Amino acid sequence: MPARHAASNSTVLAELREQGLICDLGLSNVREHHLDQALAIAPVVCVQNMFNVAERGDEKMLDRTTAYVLFFPLGGFSPVQHQALEEVGGRHGATERQVVLAWLLHRAPNVLLIPGTSSTRHLEENLASADLHLSEQDLTLLDTIE
Ligand SMILES: NC(=O)c1ccc[n+]([C@@H]2O[C@H](COP(=O)([O-])OP(=O)(O)OC[C@H]3O[C@@H](n4cnc5c(N)ncnc54)[C@H](OP(=O)(O)O)[C@@H]3O)[C@@H](O)[C@H]2O)c1
Repeated sequence: MPARHAASNSTVLAELREQGLICDLGLSNVREHHLDQALAIAPVVCVQNMFNVAERGDEKMLDRTTAYVLFFPLGGFSPVQHQALEEVGGRHGATERQVVLAWLLHRAPNVLLIPGTSSTRHLEENLASADLHLSEQDLTLLDTIE
């Protein structure tokens, strides 16, 4: 049986990487034990899981990965809404969406944002969130969001 048929699904990507056919490996929609299993096979440079100011269940994973390319940064189909966002936005002349994105950028340097939009105006707003500097007071207030 050819080796590639004998290989389990979990090792095929690692083999392709060793052959230089792909550069780096990333995982999506995984729990910590999945990352452990993958790391036993090959290096994993990024994880893409759901994470935002109202969905923080993946804190540990975020701290374990070189790049954390979270999805639903704005909440996806259920946009994050909370009084604290309006209050912090008001302090900075920013929109609530910009506060949501700025919070993520403050969370850790390995956080990479991929907010989805069909609007040029929203795209410009989202890019400008990188210039929004949140204070300790802002971050404390945003920590009240669950
Ligand atoms: N790996 C996975 O399993 C997985 C799962 C889900 C998503 N993803 C990926 O993650 C990325 C983000 O996901 P997503 O786009 O579904 O969720 P999202 O970025 O949390 O939210 C996108 C929604 O927010 C709105 N929006 C964006 N910027 C805005 C702004 N400045 N003001 C107001 N509304 C704004 C968009 O509407 P407008 O178009 O009107 O701006 C859209 O309805 C995508 O690349 C997606 O492919 C991956």
